[in-house]
Amino acid sequence: MIHVTLDRTSAIPLIRQLYDGMRAQILSGVLRPGSRLPSSREMAGQLGVSRNVVVEAFEMLYSEGFTTARHGSGTFVAPGTTFPAAVAEKKRITLAKVSMGYESQAGVINFKPGTPDLREFPLRAWLQAVKAAYLHPADDSLGYGQPEGRRELRQAICDYVVSQRGVACDPDQIVITAGTTQAIGIACHLLLGERRDVILEDPITRDIQLIVKGEGGVIHPVTADDSGLVVEELPSGISPAFVYVTPSHQFPLGGTLAIQRRIALLEYVERTGACLIEDDYDSEFRFDGPALASLQSLAPDRVVYIGTFSKTLSPALRTGYLILPPALVGEGRGRKWHCDLHNETPTQLALAHFIATGGYLRHLGRMKRLYARKRRVLEQALAAHFGAAVRIIGSATGLHLAARFSGIVFTPELLAELEKKRVRVYPAEAHAIKPGRLDDIILIGYGNLSEAQIEQGIRILHRVINR
Ligand SMILES: Cc1ncc(COP(=O)(O)O)c(C=O)c1O
Repeated sequence: MIHVTLDRTSAIPLIRQLYDGMRAQILSGVLRPGSRLPSSREMAGQLGVSRNVVVEAFEMLYSEGFTTARHGSGTFVAPGTTFPAAVAEKKRITLAKVSMGYESQAGVINFKPGTPDLREFPLRAWLQAVKAAYLHPADDSLGYGQPEGRRELRQAICDYVVSQRGVACDPDQIVITAGTTQAIGIACHLLLGERRDVILEDPITRDIQLIVKGEGGVIHPVTADDSGLVVEELPSGISPAFVYVTPSHQFPLGGTLAIQRRIALLEYVERTGACLIEDDYDSEFRFDGPALASLQSLAPDRVVYIGTFSKTLSPALRTGYLILPPALVGEGRGRKWHCDLHNETPTQLALAHFIATGGYLRHLGRMKRLYARKRRVLEQALAAHFGAAVRIIGSATGLHLAARFSGIVFTPELLAELEKKRVRVYPAEAHAIKPGRLDDIILIGYGNLSEAQIEQGIRILHRVINR
């Protein structure tokens, strides 16, 4: 007689309940190897269930090797199936709360830098593009693809960067990646060989510092000021693997690297045999003049160019790209394959369609006007509340600005006080490699806030600071 309790009110099917009950009895040793199980008819009668339920549960046990069937003489518990530890106590997984520090309370005016206006995502046009992607032959769009990504998307990106960013490029130099974040990891992997020294702008986003360190790079910080990398500080006496720069819009301080600094930087990498990584993350939105052509256009053989759709469309698409010097293309595709085979194909096809049919450029134009307006509202609110006590750093580009407040130190206590009043701003110091220089600067992202939220947030900032 086998006792299994079945709960007819449970959402777990009876077959599963019976299987679980018998399996537990076999593992615990209650049903010992060699013991004979009742016939399915007998057991069904005993439990008051249909015979099919018992037959299916028995089959599951048999197919996993818990039982053996001897023709004509019944079903027996198989040898070697006792393992009481597996059922000694009900195994419940308890997980301590894992905090990565990026939670934000609902209702907080979150001046997070780098998030585009998510409500303005061009949903209707995008859905049409996605539909077009799924109308591709299934073998082509739903099977395994190539690590470098879809030809259609690489061609569309190539046309875009050649015409808009002055990049020298052939579609075969492009590898589609899961955003800039993956692109930087791949570039580090390609460029960090015997040379391990890496020059980073200081400050630079914490993520990039972590990726470089994670790939075994040894970081040498070089100051970034209001105009980007201070080229006079580039170290002599080392042979860096690469210099990583955000020349269109230094992150986080906002400077745009002038041509004289660009040339000095290129002369430095030429002299030291280093490569350059150009992260062109939000150059599409320049409000105080035409965007400068890419650094890559000046030295295509030395520059790894990285672009992303995280700022222009949505970070949730996780789509960016590397444009590699020809000598690195093969290895770059190999590394992408190693990471995750390739980016998801339907999104690549949809994006290619969206760019090729003109939707992307139209969207950029509309968003540029929108962000210019938001930035103006933010600048006016800062001027109205803080007057000469605040200075905006860098060029008017992108989705955030960096502001220096004379006489204010953004301590954790001040930031916590702001959070209590439901406003979150971001200290530039959090991105510093050498600490202590940027305590009076905060980053104020405006991309994903309404004009009313921006005005209200700055009003609260002023109230808290002046308390
Ligand atoms: C300097 C910089 N580059 C690129 C990105 C974009 O990263 P991803 O393309 O992986 O979303 C960010 C994110 O905010 C950034 O700060």
